[in-house]
Amino acid sequence: MQSQQRVSPSPHLREIAINKRRLLRDLNAVSRIGIGDHGSVTRLVFSIKELRSRQFLIHQMRQIGLQLHIDRIGNIFGKLAGHHTKAPALLVGSHLDTVLHGGKFDGTMGVIAALEAVRTLKEQNIVLQSPVEVVCFVGEESSRFGYSTLGSSLIAGEIRGKDLTHAADAQGTRLEDILASMGIYRNNLRSMRRDPATIKAYLELHIEQGPILEAKKKSIGVVTSIAAPTRFRVVFTGQADHSGTTPMEMRRDALVAAAEFIIAVEKVSRRYSRIEKGRVVGTVGTMKIDPGVINAIPGKTELAVDIRSITAQAKQRVVRLVQAQMREIARRRNIRAEILPLREEDPVPLDKRLIRLLKECCEARNIAYEIMPSGAGHDAMQMAKITRAGILFVPSRRGISHSPLEWSEPEDICVGAQLLLDSMIRLANEAI
Ligand code: GLV
Ligand code: MN
Ligand code: MN
Repeated sequence: MQSQQRVSPSPHLREIAINKRRLLRDLNAVSRIGIGDHGSVTRLVFSIKELRSRQFLIHQMRQIGLQLHIDRIGNIFGKLAGHHTKAPALLVGSHLDTVLHGGKFDGTMGVIAALEAVRTLKEQNIVLQSPVEVVCFVGEESSRFGYSTLGSSLIAGEIRGKDLTHAADAQGTRLEDILASMGIYRNNLRSMRRDPATIKAYLELHIEQGPILEAKKKSIGVVTSIAAPTRFRVVFTGQADHSGTTPMEMRRDALVAAAEFIIAVEKVSRRYSRIEKGRVVGTVGTMKIDPGVINAIPGKTELAVDIRSITAQAKQRVVRLVQAQMREIARRRNIRAEILPLREEDPVPLDKRLIRLLKECCEARNIAYEIMPSGAGHDAMQMAKITRAGILFVPSRRGISHSPLEWSEPEDICVGAQLLLDSMIRLANEAI
């Protein structure tokens, strides 16, 4: 087979085109796994549907003939050999898990586009200088456990034991127990960290999940930095009591305290939402009410709070103000308030050389691009801690994501996948 291989030091990019039909066919096949009402897709991490999507990928990787590696958590790596077999590999991918009632493309597009890119190389017998690994990271979404970028955090050695303390799903299943069943414990969390010397760079194609590209009529976003979250739970404990017999002035209603707090999160975040103030966003995404019946005053509420920004300082200021408001509300209402930390991360700048390379790839094909930050989190934010990382965005219709209405035009997806292949070729052929 060696004699048929085209070693490609500087291939003419235009010659090497992805197969658009095959890309869209595979994307469609994955979106049917976990499909629900109104075209929503639900593949929560470690659910049967999510495992089936990973099985689909493994099957495709085997068909292509990639060398497969699946680690303890279930991250999947499919390797296409390079001319220099022992050289550091270029990693390209994203995630297949989704939020509850999410869309078809968040994460999935990046994995399937990476798959299509290496399949194109393989079928055209093109051997790049470095190996390329298609990667699917487990559990990028925080929807189930309140813990995001699980698989990539393990690869980057970025998980701390204390972050796991309050990570649990709505049924009370603790992430720490699931990890233990896979042989991952607090004392060996860093054992899955991949040696940075084995990685050349990490590339990710993702939908924008925001409205900028559509508004500016650009086909591609080249990402400069990723906003990072501070996440915590807030527990208000008042007194459960009879809703018919307890006079209003004698109540210690934990739900009313929570309601005030939710409004406070919105108000404070709005004060820092303008770009010059740090573009902070604050969300209360979940609430548990105990006992949660019509005829009892709520005695306990638990909320999950997600505050993000591109600048660490602005985010910290909002976190401090929000937590001060929480204490003030609790004091005034004679209620106990407790903070259960989930995760604290700093915004991540992406690699400048990679940004330049991605821009050049757009220019080579006359693609209109926008240089922009990412408000959403991505596996690239963990990978950036151990290697050069870069992200390309594809426009999202009306900016909607984490919703069944999430949509990107097939032509845009194909442009993104083609640029992913172009940039892979350039990066993998760069001097080692
Ligand atoms: C990932 O989708 C996030 O929550 O930013
Ligand atoms: Mn997402
Ligand atoms: Mn995603």
